[in-house]
Formats: sequence, structure tokens, C-alpha cells
Amino acid sequence: MKTELFESIENVIGKVNTIVLLDEQGCTSEVSRIVTDEKPYILKSANKEKYREWLKNEAHILEKLRDNSIPLPRYFGFFEQLDSSHLLMSFEEGVTLTYALTNATLMEKKKLLRSFGRFLNHFHESSPLNCLEHEGSWLDIQLEKAKGYVDSGQCDGDSKLLNSLISNKPLPVNQTMIHGDCTTDNVLVKDGEISLFIDVAGMTVGDPRYDESLAISDLIDEPELLEAFYEGYTRYRVTMNEFKYFNEGLYEFF
Ligand SMILES: Nc1ncnc2c1ncn2[C@@H]1O[C@H](COP(=O)(O)OP(=O)(O)OP(=O)(O)O)[C@@H](O)[C@H]1O
Ligand SMILES: [Mg+2]
Repeated sequence: MKTELFESIENVIGKVNTIVLLDEQGCTSEVSRIVTDEKPYILKSANKEKYREWLKNEAHILEKLRDNSIPLPRYFGFFEQLDSSHLLMSFEEGVTLTYALTNATLMEKKKLLRSFGRFLNHFHESSPLNCLEHEGSWLDIQLEKAKGYVDSGQCDGDSKLLNSLISNKPLPVNQTMIHGDCTTDNVLVKDGEISLFIDVAGMTVGDPRYDESLAISDLIDEPELLEAFYEGYTRYRVTMNEFKYFNEGLYEFF
């Protein structure tokens, strides 16, 4: 780690004892655990332009939501260098839901997915926080961002798919707070229950069907597991068309 970054971190949290790369990494960043005498922290670092932008958003969101009731890591700092960006936040106990599901029995899987459904249901049903409100339709904003990524070759989706998403927007529903990348990778499990959201760059007020579709993405062909999720997520059930629009359509650009 560069001296300048190391010093900035110590300025915030005091003397650092160890820095260790986590075993479980995401795709868009490098994540390390930093330990001081007081407590552990997470440093999330990105160097590609697109992911640096996301990391900056994530930092803004964690900072804005520092004193709110949404279960999230606590913000400690954001550091930008010439070729990389770094977010410092609290280390939270737990494993990702993806990891927890890997070696679980069918009964344990159902319990975890019911908990995931309940957790997301509660979040979508909470009154949107003022600080997450914004002008304009979330979907239109996402389609505009997607166009930027297509033009600069920074995503899997192509302009044909994008045009079809623009022409076939689903009928609008009430906007709610959304996580914005609500896969099983981005929630942590502690003591058998979903405890916290991570990776919150996309958290805003938007279309809850996007979260729901990503949440059930790996369950869609497993009726028993899907039912377990919906025992917790009772507020709405996406249609197959909506699921495809969001999971196989819009998500291709993010
Ligand atoms: N605050 C935290 N406390 C503990 N572990 C964390 C924390 N934030 C992230 N992690 C760990 O780091 C891993 C990667 O984090 P995260 O999902 O934020 O990164 P990412 O690279 O953006 O992932 P993605 O590929 O989904 O975009 C997580 O799977 C989790 O194991
Ligand atoms: Mg992630």
C-alpha cells in the first residue's frame, strides 16, 4: 500500500496493526481487512474508472446514511489517488448469503431465503428517506446510464438489447428505497439471519422489482426455494416478463 494512503487511513483510525486481503472477494474491487487495537475495518479499493465511480457513490451513500436505521457498514473515509480509490468502512461480522447457501441443507436454505425475503420486504416497505429521494424516474436514469456504458464499451449488454428495453418499459409501480444490486452476494448473514446490506453503490429510491428480480435470480428454477423467499417477501411478486426485463435485460448493463 502506498505510504500516502496508509497515512490517510491512520489519520482516521489510529495505528494499523495488520492489513490482510479477504478470502471472499467481489468482482469489481479488492477488499482487505484492516485491524487496529480498537477494532477491524474493511478497505474496499477499485482502479477501473467505472468501478471507481461506483465506489465513490457507495462512499457517499454510506456517509449520508451514517445515522439512519438501514443496516449497513459504517462509513469512515474515502480516499482518492491518481490511479485508485479506496473506501474505509466498519468490518461487519457474517458471511455473504451466497456463501451461507453453498453448504446448507434444504431446510437451512429455506430458512435463509425466508429471512432474505423478510429483510427485503421490510426495506421496500419502509418510508423512503429524504436523503435518497431524487428528481426523475429511476428507470429512465438507469437506461441513460446504460447508454453511456454501451457507447464506451463498458458493459455486457448491446445497443439492440438497450433499445428493446427503452421501447418495452414495464408499467410503472410505486417507487421505494432499493438496494440497486440486490444479489445474494450483497447481503450478509449472521446467526442464520440476514443482518446487513453491503455493496450499496446503487442504493436509492427506484423500482423495487429490480431488487426483487436480482434477489430471486438464482432461485427461479427451484420452486421450493422460491416459495421460501416469497414467504418472507409478501408485498409483490414479479411476473416472468418483469423478471426477464430486469434480470436478463437491465442488469446486463451494470
Ligand atoms: N463491511 C464489510 N464487512 C465485512 N465484509 C465485507 C464488508 N464489505 C465487503 N465485505 C466482503 O468483501 C466482499 C466483496 O465486497 P463487495 O460486494 O462490496 O465488493 P464488490 O467487488 O463490489 O462486489 P461485486 O462484484 O458484487 O460488485 C464481500 O463478499 C464480503 O465478503
Ligand atoms: Mg458485491
